[in-house]
Amino acid sequence: MIYLDNAATTFPKPVEVYEEVLTCMKNYGASPGRSSHDMALKASAKILETRQLLSNMFGVKNPLNMIFTCNATEGLNIGIKGLLKSNDHAISTIIEHNSVLRPLKSLNKKGVELTLLGVDDNGYVNLNDIKNEIKKNTKAIIINHASNVIGSIQNIEEIGSIAKENNIIFIVDASQSAGLIPIDVEICNIDILAFPGHKGLYGPQGTGALYIKEGLKMSNFKEGGTGSDSKSTLQPEYMPDKYESGTLNTPAIAGLCEGLKFINRIGIECIRTHEEDLITYLYEKLSKLPYIKIYGESTYKNRCPVLSFNIDGVDSSMVGYLLNKKGIAIRTGYHCAPLIHDMLGTSNIGTARISVGYFNTLEEIEYTVQAIKDIFI
Ligand code: ALA
Repeated sequence: MIYLDNAATTFPKPVEVYEEVLTCMKNYGASPGRSSHDMALKASAKILETRQLLSNMFGVKNPLNMIFTCNATEGLNIGIKGLLKSNDHAISTIIEHNSVLRPLKSLNKKGVELTLLGVDDNGYVNLNDIKNEIKKNTKAIIINHASNVIGSIQNIEEIGSIAKENNIIFIVDASQSAGLIPIDVEICNIDILAFPGHKGLYGPQGTGALYIKEGLKMSNFKEGGTGSDSKSTLQPEYMPDKYESGTLNTPAIAGLCEGLKFINRIGIECIRTHEEDLITYLYEKLSKLPYIKIYGESTYKNRCPVLSFNIDGVDSSMVGYLLNKKGIAIRTGYHCAPLIHDMLGTSNIGTARISVGYFNTLEEIEYTVQAIKDIFI
């Protein structure tokens, strides 16, 4: 299979990721942070190591402020629902994924005021629009760092400054950018950063993390065993235990640990350059075909390597079906980001989306271009 659905989940993973998942399960798959036998201590050490690597990657000084989640969606729910209360106002955008839109819409029904900003034709938020919407009760700005539909990367450094100047909590969804674009929570004034482990960080599915700024007061919706203060029936207030109850998915986190080491070894810049070269090549080839409509900016300098397109007269799901028959895996439809399709004019048809990863090759992209041409002929 030529796998071009990396914005959903990267595949394949570096071989060491698979190996460490198995090694953990076979050799030290005990409960971390609970017992004091050798296997549990080894599991705890792996969790600590991964927490440290994640913190290093995102400029987080205290690794205890990095909590493990199952995915970015869980992290975003913890942050958004833990923070926003009735009569608070939140600013977000129409380009968000449902992992942000659905929690916000659900809170909106419970009295949280919501402003969803539009974006320009290339998918960028206007900074003045953000400034203009700030009110006395604005509690949070929630922004998708990079769109999973058209790849547009928002200027989170500038948005973070606006948030800081106005004493507003800044929440960033780094689902598409983590592992691909350097992010420093201090430089960008990020208060809450959510990201998955199974995309650009090359970990297994069911992994993710959430950075919560030191001292930020939020409620937690999950309570249970933490391995700490076990005689108490009250949830600890300290990090990360406040938000991390129940046995962690240690084998998957051990795999994520190897994904992070892989990125550090190859280098984020190198990974991005390779993916950008491939997607730019694809863009150049497809944009010459008169029956293809490509969405988003014509350069990838400020975009993640996803390419959404439609073929005249062919439903996007049919494009996915036909490519699958030729051994090419892509995603089609609405990509869990319903509102951006109004802006793209694809509300009734969705888009076919190609998203490349580090392990894709130019030959695979060339084969895909030919396969797309064959659909139209
Ligand atoms: N959010 C993921 C995607 O864009 C699943 O495909």
